[in-house]
Amino acid sequence: MSFRSVFMAVVIAFALILSAFLVNRARPKIETEQPSADFVRASGKCAECHARAQYSVVHEYEMSMHAKKGITCLDCHQPAANQKSVDHHGFVISAHLTAGNCRSCHEGIYQEFARSRHAAPAWAAVYGSQGLTKEQVAFSEQFQPGGTNRAPNPLVLPEGHAATTSGCDQCHSIGKPNDDGTIGTCTNCHARHVDSVALARLPTTCGQCHMGPDHSQIEIYNESKHGVMFAAQHDQMNLNADPRTLTTRDMFVPTCATCHMSGINGLKVTHNPSDRLSWYLSDAVSTHRPNYLQAQINMKQVCTQCHTQPMIDRVYTQAEQVVANTNGRVLAAKAIMDGLHKDGVLTGAPFTHPIDFTYFNLWHYDGRTSKHAAFMGGADFVQWHGNYELLAKTIELQHEADELRREHAHK
Ligand code: HEC
Ligand code: HEC
Ligand code: HEC
Ligand code: HEC
Ligand code: HEC
Ligand code: HEC
Ligand code: HEC
Ligand code: HEC
Repeated sequence: MSFRSVFMAVVIAFALILSAFLVNRARPKIETEQPSADFVRASGKCAECHARAQYSVVHEYEMSMHAKKGITCLDCHQPAANQKSVDHHGFVISAHLTAGNCRSCHEGIYQEFARSRHAAPAWAAVYGSQGLTKEQVAFSEQFQPGGTNRAPNPLVLPEGHAATTSGCDQCHSIGKPNDDGTIGTCTNCHARHVDSVALARLPTTCGQCHMGPDHSQIEIYNESKHGVMFAAQHDQMNLNADPRTLTTRDMFVPTCATCHMSGINGLKVTHNPSDRLSWYLSDAVSTHRPNYLQAQINMKQVCTQCHTQPMIDRVYTQAEQVVANTNGRVLAAKAIMDGLHKDGVLTGAPFTHPIDFTYFNLWHYDGRTSKHAAFMGGADFVQWHGNYELLAKTIELQHEADELRREHAHK
């Protein structure tokens, strides 16, 4: 062996050791100073401590698909891009988790969610575009025109901080902008530790927010044939079925998720429920969405998995008649309000006069309720909580308007 080759070998060996040292130094602290992934599983250090203090958290995790697939506590709890980290009993964890902590493994789903009204538009419905970056607004507007580029809701100011934080925020923070630059949270529908599709498929999960007089979807569902059948038969259903192979044999009665998100019998699963909606039903006066035709095809394809075409067409024809009828009533009420404003009879900020509330309740409660119920099988909500109230409030509104005009004439 020549001196030359020995020298080369020594130089190469030294270079390897040095570069290994440098590469290792550049690696995140988490990887070098903390135990291996195996060690931090449910059986590991996090669980050891937390099972004593918060048994429920660890138990929920143990039942999850994540635990089965070997995803550790730290996989979610480590700081994701742009997140603040804190030292925690020998580990480095993130101070606050967001959709950014799920995104690292579920990027495709995050992208669909980000294009939906559950993302930025849900936040903007309360606070307008404030708190969102220009880029976030521009991105969302491409998919949900008018959803994000708007002013704060006129109820926010008069109701005040305490009410909006414990009220509006609890439902609308599903699309809250996070410090790390991501939008929203995934755990409203999936929970933080069990993360199961079965939970997300339950009507009560959506009903946490989709309830009450202004969007009575859970109440409508519960009284519909679908809701009644689900209550009777959910024990016989396979709510845990893999989304990629879900069929009507697993779920033969639809829940909210089936119609709005699932890919039953090979249809496309979506985290953007707008894909199947043809009307802006929650608006005072409903109009077609830009994707009206395609959206109806998409939703009717879901119905077709369980029903015949003539029946589905009948439901849609009748529901669209309710939309037209409701639009007519709301437009008539709006004309009364517009007249009062135009003639200077009604002045001042929104929500400062009793008639403002009569009008708002008319379209926001009764109008919406009748439209939603017509599409989702809630006869009582089309009629007694919907059209009957619309009629009664139209009379009330006219009476209040006449009174206001009389007072105005005497001034
Ligand atoms: C030696 C015990 C111990 C270990 C190990 C431990 N924790 Fe904790 N953890 C605690 C205690 C006690 C608290 C209560 C708040 C505090 O003292 O920080 C806590 C709080 C938390 C919180 C809530 C923090 C907050 O500010 O709301 C999270 C999240 C958490 N731990 C996750 C983890 C994860 C993930 C691991 C493993 C990577 C882990 N913990 C390991 C004891 C521990
Ligand atoms: C699928 C991701 C995920 C996994 C896996 C996970 N967590 Fe969490 N955990 C979360 C999220 C999200 C939160 C809510 C954090 C927040 O509010 O910022 C949370 C919150 C917590 C909290 C605070 C709970 C409270 O109610 O005060 C503790 C403690 C915690 N996790 C411990 C653990 C432990 C221990 C494990 C493993 C046995 C674990 N987590 C696994 C996502 C996860
Ligand atoms: C380290 C990667 C990783 C992270 C982080 C992660 N997941 Fe997962 N998740 C997985 C894997 C792997 C599966 C199993 C997927 C499969 O079978 O194809 C899964 C499955 C799921 C499922 C389906 C469960 C079922 O019952 O079939 C849901 C829901 C889910 N994750 C939600 C979340 C949410 C919400 C977060 C953030 C709080 C998150 N995940 C964070 C890797 C991850
Ligand atoms: C119980 C949960 C919940 C609370 C509390 C709540 N909302 Fe909503 N909000 C929803 C749901 C669900 C919808 C979707 C209704 C639909 O599409 O039919 C919605 C729809 C809206 C819309 C219409 C959609 C849009 O983007 O224009 C506005 C505006 C709105 N909410 C504002 C508010 C304001 C402001 C508050 C508080 C003063 C509030 N909400 C409180 C759940 C809630
Ligand atoms: C944490 C509260 C919350 C939960 C849970 C929730 N939603 Fe929503 N949802 C909202 C809010 C807020 C809006 C209104 C967003 C907007 O238009 O401003 C909304 C809007 C919608 C819309 C109308 C979208 C559009 O394009 O107008 C559909 C459909 C919907 N949600 C379906 C569901 C289904 C199905 C579930 C359960 C799997 C669910 N939601 C769970 C809060 C929630
Ligand atoms: C409005 C409620 C809702 C929100 C918000 C939501 N999901 Fe889901 N997710 C569902 C439903 C419902 C299913 C089951 C669809 C089905 O029936 O096949 C699901 C399924 C999944 C699955 C399993 C899908 C598969 O193909 O294996 C994963 C993973 C998942 N969600 C992750 C996420 C992540 C990550 C986020 C946040 C970016 C998120 N989800 C936000 C309702 C939601
Ligand atoms: C049998 C299928 C089906 C079921 C089950 C169902 N929906 Fe719907 N939903 C529809 C149809 C159809 C529409 C109207 C679609 C359109 O605009 O073309 C609709 C409309 C909506 C809207 C109105 C969006 C807007 O424009 O304001 C929301 C929100 C909604 N559904 C949520 C839910 C929730 C939450 C549940 C469960 C409690 C549920 N749906 C159950 C079929 C269903
Ligand atoms: C996963 C299967 C499934 C899907 C998807 C589904 N349905 Fe149903 N639907 C049922 C079942 C089961 C019944 C009860 C049938 C019976 O009485 O034999 C039912 C009953 C009905 C009824 C009441 C019939 C009556 O007179 O009692 C109407 C109306 C209806 N569905 C409309 C729809 C529409 C519209 C869609 C799509 C937006 C839809 N369904 C989607 C399974 C489904």
